[in-house]
Amino acid sequence: MATFAKGLEGVTAAETRMSFIDGEKGILEYVGIPIDDLARNSTFEETVFLLWNCRLPTKGELADFTQQLRSRYALPAGMKERILSVPKNAQPMHMLRTMVSALSMHDPDPNSVEVHKVREKALNVLAQVPAIIAMFDRNRRGLPLVDPDPKLTFAENFLYMLNGVKPSPAVARAFDICMILHADHGLNNSTFSSRVVISTLSDTYSALTAAIGSLRGPLHGGANEEVMEMLFEIEDIAKKEGKDVMSIIEPFIMDKLARRHEGARIMGFGHRVYKTIDPRATFLKTFAKQIATDTGNLELYEISSRIEQIMAREVGAKGIYPNVDFYSATTYHSIGLKLDLFTPMFAMSRVSGWAGHVIEQLSDNRLYRPKAEYVGPHAAPYIPIDKR
Ligand code: ACO
Repeated sequence: MATFAKGLEGVTAAETRMSFIDGEKGILEYVGIPIDDLARNSTFEETVFLLWNCRLPTKGELADFTQQLRSRYALPAGMKERILSVPKNAQPMHMLRTMVSALSMHDPDPNSVEVHKVREKALNVLAQVPAIIAMFDRNRRGLPLVDPDPKLTFAENFLYMLNGVKPSPAVARAFDICMILHADHGLNNSTFSSRVVISTLSDTYSALTAAIGSLRGPLHGGANEEVMEMLFEIEDIAKKEGKDVMSIIEPFIMDKLARRHEGARIMGFGHRVYKTIDPRATFLKTFAKQIATDTGNLELYEISSRIEQIMAREVGAKGIYPNVDFYSATTYHSIGLKLDLFTPMFAMSRVSGWAGHVIEQLSDNRLYRPKAEYVGPHAAPYIPIDKR
């Protein structure tokens, strides 16, 4: 018997071998490996191989995969002109969604859904998203464009194309870890979107474009940007009122919590699946503290930490704890990324998860077509327009 579940809460709608989540215990594993182990020991390239092949690579396989990714860093001819023609005040997520869609027009065989061909397309998109974002950002800042460098890792190459200088090893590693932590997360909203689209045997680009559209929402990937806005708002209020920043956090949060039934939210808290601290947030918390200290952003970390304490006291019992977006905001800010690039950073990593799910879906496809429970009238009269 089919039952109605608003927001599909608790409904199992796919099988996956990629990531496992236990929301009660706060466990996240990629192909059985705890996320913490991967964040400490792996690289983004190795993690993508793991997700797409459901096993760790040998040395030779990793070298080959890395080489294949690097050889695709450059955009196809014609893409540069498209990116430069985007209005400079466009929002990066709208730009990214449009440009990933546009990549399909530079692929002579965009519609093929044979798995080996989809893997090729996925590798291209994964390799090229960094160039799309960096090119758009440098152009809007009036800076000369920087060509990708195939000698650099995925993380280093992005930061190099964005900033025009090679990142320090510590910053490159911080960014690489953020990429690992955001790569896959069960059947989240954007991943579900990608699986729904590919289940019609549409095409890889349409599936990835739909997923980017879904990720942009403030209830999903857009939250990291809003976390940072909240931290800045708290600092601004303190400055305007001439008060110590730590003293205004409590009233600020309590006011938002009091208005939560009107839809007010403390961004970066709560999760449909986790009813305890998100394991990615646990890792990022320690990490954010270190990088915030090293880069002179400790105040932002301390504000975050105080918010976490208040939230644990007030709503911890309801299972509302920090999610991945909460401490990734401070981490991204500390490594010098602009606010409106936070969600594109999430997308840059999650392309790997979406693509892996597209491949899984195609390997055992059945069209997604749920039902809606009709709650409107029946046998209603048709009233002629001049009598309404
Ligand atoms: N701030 C305040 N109250 C919250 C929050 C929050 N961040 N999150 C949940 N609640 C409260 C709700 O008010 C509600 O309370 P009630 O039972 O008293 O009415 C209860 O917790 C359940 O909330 P729902 O919104 O129904 O939970 P749902 O599972 O639908 O939503 C979601 C999960 C969307 C993530 C929600 O927690 C939220 O809006 N969080 C803020 C946005 C955010 O950080 N999103 C990123 C999620 S992680 C990711 O996508 C990468």
